[in-house]
Amino acid sequence: MQNVIPNLLTWYKNVHRKLPWRETSNPYYIWVSEVILQQTRVEQGREYYVKFVDKFPDVFSLARADVSEILKIWQGLGYYARARNMHFAAKQMVDLHQGNFPNDYFSIKNLRGIGDYTAAAIASFAFKQHYPAIDGNVKRVTARFYGVDLPISTPAFYKLVEKELFLAIKTTEPDIFNQAMIELGAMVCTPVNPKCEICPIQSECFAFKFDKTLELPNNPPKKKPIRKYLHFFYIEVEGHLVLQQRPSEGIWGGLNEFPCIESLGVDEIPENMMEYLGLENGSFEIVDNFEFKHLLTHQTIFAKLWHLKVNSNNNLTLKNWNLIKINDIRTFPLHKLMVKILDKLHL
Ligand code: ADE
Repeated sequence: MQNVIPNLLTWYKNVHRKLPWRETSNPYYIWVSEVILQQTRVEQGREYYVKFVDKFPDVFSLARADVSEILKIWQGLGYYARARNMHFAAKQMVDLHQGNFPNDYFSIKNLRGIGDYTAAAIASFAFKQHYPAIDGNVKRVTARFYGVDLPISTPAFYKLVEKELFLAIKTTEPDIFNQAMIELGAMVCTPVNPKCEICPIQSECFAFKFDKTLELPNNPPKKKPIRKYLHFFYIEVEGHLVLQQRPSEGIWGGLNEFPCIESLGVDEIPENMMEYLGLENGSFEIVDNFEFKHLLTHQTIFAKLWHLKVNSNNNLTLKNWNLIKINDIRTFPLHKLMVKILDKLHL
């Protein structure tokens, strides 16, 4: 790649999108942006980035925060473990590095939630260290450029790509090189209809030369999302409602929702509902119900909302649930499906 790197860097310097995290070499800001951008489009990521650094402008403010404040800012972004890991990592930096961001690749990688990609991005953008940042965009560019046809999610693919990129990056400015590869993947070397005619590294690209951009990278077909059936219960008790916090592991970890049970379908009220909610027969009224379909990357959720009115002298067994004022519901960190349900209920 060495021969075309000057073209790549010149192209980047001339045409790159101006994004707030590209105007800084502060490792904290770069970290925040990279974690947000891991699973998020740039336009949406930009809004969350601005909100996040406004609320938590440095390691100390993040370490001091309550995790629910962080989840509230993160609300709607998905993959909530990212937010909890950032909180943990901020506390690690306070405990182990006096609140400073560590300044070498391996110490950065020791922080919670930081893998090879994020460590390389921070080490190169903030500290100009020569580590290739290998995300999905960069994998695609590299697979096409070098003609790597191993399946994209295999360790063998990663090793080969990493080896080539280490050789390339050590000859150049690592921060600009990594940004340029990311930008090229996002703007030119796109998954479909890549714009090879304007590509700055076209002259040495394997896929362009042999007309293989459709076949590379070798991306085996994705598994179908699994179907899940969930029942949510809006239990109204004299101006209050029952809210439940999900366990920190797994989907929507740490976020709040109405009490929820899974079933084999959404048509019927689940048999174990009364027992689960601790309600006695005749002590409540079903006011309404609605159905929702919600798409996640690996799951399609069919949900049903049951609106129940319960009188206050019922022995509702509250388990670990909270009884909160109906008007306060939106102040809690909630997942997207919950927000959809609340919108429908006009809450
Ligand atoms: N996606 C991941 N990192 C990025 C960056 N630094 N700029 C633009 N998009 C990105």
